[in-house]
Amino acid sequence: MHCKIAIDGPAGSGKTTVAKEIAKRLGIDYLDTGAMYRIVGLYLHNCGVSPDSTEEIEKTLSTVSIEYKDGKYYLNGKQVGDEIRTAEAGIYASRYGANPVVRKFLTKIQKEICATRSIVAEGRDIGTVVMPDAQVKIFLIASPEVRAKRRYEELKSKGLEVSYDELLKQIIERDKLDSSREIAPLVKAEDAIEIDSSNLSVEDVVQKILEIIKERCSLN
Ligand code: DC
Repeated sequence: MHCKIAIDGPAGSGKTTVAKEIAKRLGIDYLDTGAMYRIVGLYLHNCGVSPDSTEEIEKTLSTVSIEYKDGKYYLNGKQVGDEIRTAEAGIYASRYGANPVVRKFLTKIQKEICATRSIVAEGRDIGTVVMPDAQVKIFLIASPEVRAKRRYEELKSKGLEVSYDELLKQIIERDKLDSSREIAPLVKAEDAIEIDSSNLSVEDVVQKILEIIKERCSLN
């Protein structure tokens, strides 16, 4: 049987690092649904489409294809790069992601990817919408200050000049957008296990989740 692991949580909670590591150790696929919202958000923004115009979004998306192959994402056949990793692309992901047409479009693709394999998928609505049947559902949280500090260190290590205060402001703004939208808001699935990573190392969190997986999935 396929083992499905859903990891949800707010920006900077450590989802990506932890989800990638778990997938690597188990030798199964990893899906970053945030990357897909970033791809579509940035694309719609670049096309000059308003986040509130459902009609325009629908029309534009009808000509768009998003594919996932060997851990890479393709937009209209072209591999996507680091352009989706900026703070602006994160905001576009969040804004356009609040539109039901965008969510329907991406949820369908994500469900198809997850249906056919063992996978660790991370995002905001994996345990609630994309894989409600996942054997393991984790809701990873951390304080806004800890999350801003992590993003700050991450961007600094890439040589990018950033302000901690600005990052903290962006994180709080994104939390508000992601939790308050009407469709698929960031909420903990009823059967998800909450882990607060504020005072835990990456390895601590990985070990905790691997133990839960061992209890619920048989992977060989
Ligand atoms: O995980 P991330 O920071 O790359 O996600 C960017 C934005 O995409 C996030 O602020 C909200 C949106 N998103 C979403 O609405 N649903 C998901 N499953 C994943 C991301």
